[in-house]
Amino acid sequence: MIERNFHIMTFGCQMNSNDSDWLKRSLISRGFTEAATPEDASVFILNTCSVREKPEQKVYSLLGRIQTMTKGREDILVAVGGCVAQQVGRGFFNRFKQVRLVFGTDGLASAPQALDRLVEEDQLRMSLLDFSEEYPEKDQEWSDGVVPPAGFVNIMQGCDNFCAYCIVPYTRGRQKSRSSVSVLEECRTLVARGMRDITLLGQNVNSFGQDAHGDGTSFAALLHQVADIKGLERLRFVTSHPKDIADEVIDAFGTRENICPRLHLPMQSGSDRILKSMGRKYDITRYRGIVDKLRHARPDLQLTTDIIVGFPGETEEDFLQTLRTAQEIGFAQSFSFNYSDRPGTRAEMLADKVTKEVMQDRLQRYQDWQSEYTEHILQSMVGRKLDVLFEGMSKKPGSDNNAEAWQGRDVFGQLVHVTLPSGGDMAGKFMPVTITEAKKHSLIGEKAGEPW
Ligand code: SAH
Ligand code: SF4
Ligand code: F3S
Repeated sequence: MIERNFHIMTFGCQMNSNDSDWLKRSLISRGFTEAATPEDASVFILNTCSVREKPEQKVYSLLGRIQTMTKGREDILVAVGGCVAQQVGRGFFNRFKQVRLVFGTDGLASAPQALDRLVEEDQLRMSLLDFSEEYPEKDQEWSDGVVPPAGFVNIMQGCDNFCAYCIVPYTRGRQKSRSSVSVLEECRTLVARGMRDITLLGQNVNSFGQDAHGDGTSFAALLHQVADIKGLERLRFVTSHPKDIADEVIDAFGTRENICPRLHLPMQSGSDRILKSMGRKYDITRYRGIVDKLRHARPDLQLTTDIIVGFPGETEEDFLQTLRTAQEIGFAQSFSFNYSDRPGTRAEMLADKVTKEVMQDRLQRYQDWQSEYTEHILQSMVGRKLDVLFEGMSKKPGSDNNAEAWQGRDVFGQLVHVTLPSGGDMAGKFMPVTITEAKKHSLIGEKAGEPW
């Protein structure tokens, strides 16, 4: 028998971290405990990502590290979940003796039961790799009763877009919308338990309801229904594919007070030729039209984006178009990465691969501009009074014994640190804060009103 003491390691997107949070809660409700340090754990769970080669390679090196770290111990169980597990599947069993469970996206819902059995039956190995017909509902366990002030609610699984470079449709399966009733019920329960900031989550939330699953409610309708929940102060959603964003969703930024003025809208490239080859189904004129409409609806809206540098066939001029467009739009932040060949995708077969050196040079130039611009945006917040929702104590100690440093987020999602007198519990509370200083990635502020 293996001790019910686990350690989870998570890679990849917010969907994976949301899945890991759920798994953790579910295991705790089944009598498992979280190990104080990785060395203490008997059950290791890797929630993996294969969107680029690097995070995929990390999985193999970590499995090797676990093997070394636990040398001589027989009481070890390793479970591999997420996108690499979906891709490699039972192949992990041959390469790593300690791996006894592999589970994919839809298998996650039954991973806790599987782990329950596996700790008892030491000869058993299990794989949960099938895609289910409908959105796999998971029991909503909050065994410790504490709900964080800000959190995520999954509204769909998978993706139907098959962008040329992307492995996600293969690892997460076809798009399956969740029923709006379940989404609303989860949101209402979370708000009733104290959550004040919710992010609706999916690979392409704008096409929610436009598949054979769910109940046909559109994303715009769902957004309004969630925004109507009393006590929900902040509502966000991620990710939006530009081709599917509806005018009603754009308008909602102007009409609904609790929809936050920050939107992640992946552009990928600023060159029409490259966008076409990526299969993104919009051109830059269309993208900029959406940006204009959004800013018309909500002038203080901050936009963030994803950029792929060095897609096959990308010339210096294509890259410069990306850089110039990003500068003109003024993204508050970008997740920018070099193109990475993914097995089985259309882009893998394309000729004219860009060399590593050229990619790296372009990425560096893009990121240099972005860090400078992000700093400029943070700097522009100095002097402004913003409501901050506090999530917990900062890692940094207070300036003296009578003070504590707290951290929270403003309406844009920017991290704000505030030093307050010791003894007050700010977690889950809002407070007006005047921004006094901008750091490279965060803001410093001081109390400018009473908490609520
Ligand atoms: N569904 C989301 C993105 C999910 S993947 C959307 O469409 O916006 C997150 C990001 O990873 C993508 O936006 C893209 O910029 C990046 N990405 C995906 N595949 C990649 C690859 N093969 N190489 C480099 N970056 C990639
Ligand atoms: Fe990948 Fe495109 Fe789907 Fe996003 S929309 S997950 S980039 S295939
Ligand atoms: Fe990675 Fe899978 Fe998310 S590939 S980015 S963990 S959907």
